[in-house]
Amino acid sequence: MIPSNACAEQSMNNWDLLLTDARIATMSRGLPDFGTIERGAIAIRDGLLDWVGPGSELPPGRADVTRSLGDRWVTPALIDCHTHVVFGGDRGAEYEQRLQGVSYEQIAMAGGGILATVRATRAASADELFESAMPRLKTLAGHGAATVEIKSGYGLDVDTEIRMLEVARRLGRDSGLTVRTTLLAAHAVAPEFSDDPDAYVELICEKLLPAVAERQLADAVDAYCESIAFDSKQIERVFERARSLGLPVKLHADQLSDGGGAALAAAFSALSADHLEYTSSAGVEAMAEAGTVAVLLPGAFLTLNETQRPPVAGLRENSVPMAVATDCNPGTSPLTSLCEAMALASRLFGLTPEECLAGTTREAARALDLDADRGTLEIGKRADLAVWNVGHPRDLSYWLGSSPLSGLLVAGRDFSLTGS
Ligand code: NIG
Ligand code: FE
Repeated sequence: MIPSNACAEQSMNNWDLLLTDARIATMSRGLPDFGTIERGAIAIRDGLLDWVGPGSELPPGRADVTRSLGDRWVTPALIDCHTHVVFGGDRGAEYEQRLQGVSYEQIAMAGGGILATVRATRAASADELFESAMPRLKTLAGHGAATVEIKSGYGLDVDTEIRMLEVARRLGRDSGLTVRTTLLAAHAVAPEFSDDPDAYVELICEKLLPAVAERQLADAVDAYCESIAFDSKQIERVFERARSLGLPVKLHADQLSDGGGAALAAAFSALSADHLEYTSSAGVEAMAEAGTVAVLLPGAFLTLNETQRPPVAGLRENSVPMAVATDCNPGTSPLTSLCEAMALASRLFGLTPEECLAGTTREAARALDLDADRGTLEIGKRADLAVWNVGHPRDLSYWLGSSPLSGLLVAGRDFSLTGS
């Protein structure tokens, strides 16, 4: 027979960490006001959220470490679902040209733009790419991100695309953050194939995609649907091959013109369609039907001096989930802060501060197919938390140019920015 005090012992919770006196923005779907819990407590065990709720309702338990947050706000750690942080060189000189009135397309047609970064990336070693990307990743973390998607797309040949993805994987291992990798070989036509873009598409489908799938280097496949990149037919080939290899897809869609990108992405049940400035209402409806997330990228909109905004009202009306990301890249969005991305999305696109925060947490998780285990503060999810020095979570969209981050927990552990 088990003595009665042993029973009590067994039903007692054991936690690794207990956070008390927290103001919690759970960001749970369907709850108003950021899903706020005042005077909350969060209990963490084995890197997961074991309990989240009002402190007064905390079940009995013992914690190895208990920490009072002194009424600071806690949100899910942020998720950057669209970046190109691995690249060689920079494009500051092109930025100056664009300030003089030369357009992004003109620069691309003259062999600059993405192809300039391709030349610099091909010339860089894996170590050089790693060393230059790590500070960008750390800056993203310093502004609250614990999960970051990283695309290839500046190699445009088998070796360099694979090198970029390997570097991205290594960044994930060495930083302690979650890195999701995306093959973006269909970013621009490789210079060797400028006379025969279909032959480059063939190379992607027959050589690169199988090689990347075999090495398990990519979590998804992306492409750029635009007159200066690839047309729908070419992208369909890439997506069909990705599907045959079991890889989900996403698309840079309708950024500079309406190329039917959103509908194309939806037709392949894409995880997300990104940019969307020129997306038509038919495109929005197709995304709603397919459950494709709209990833809004205000850093690129700002840097390219765009005037056509993504169809936010239509996305809202059709309940298309909206994510917000940095699109960190050397050409169109040299942006390394999701706080700043939120500040820009509210100002430039009219998102509410709550939509901005949902866009960098819950909906960004969905765009990466990670919503089962992160993106909201709910029991059973990963203990990826950001603690902020703000008076209210709306302030994350309010302040410009600063990081009010007070602490970042990744799988329940303090994330140290000094670790490599
Ligand atoms: O997401 N739109 C295409 N790709 C990037 C730009 C890349 C570059 O210019 O280097 C983007 O904005
Ligand atoms: Fe991009």
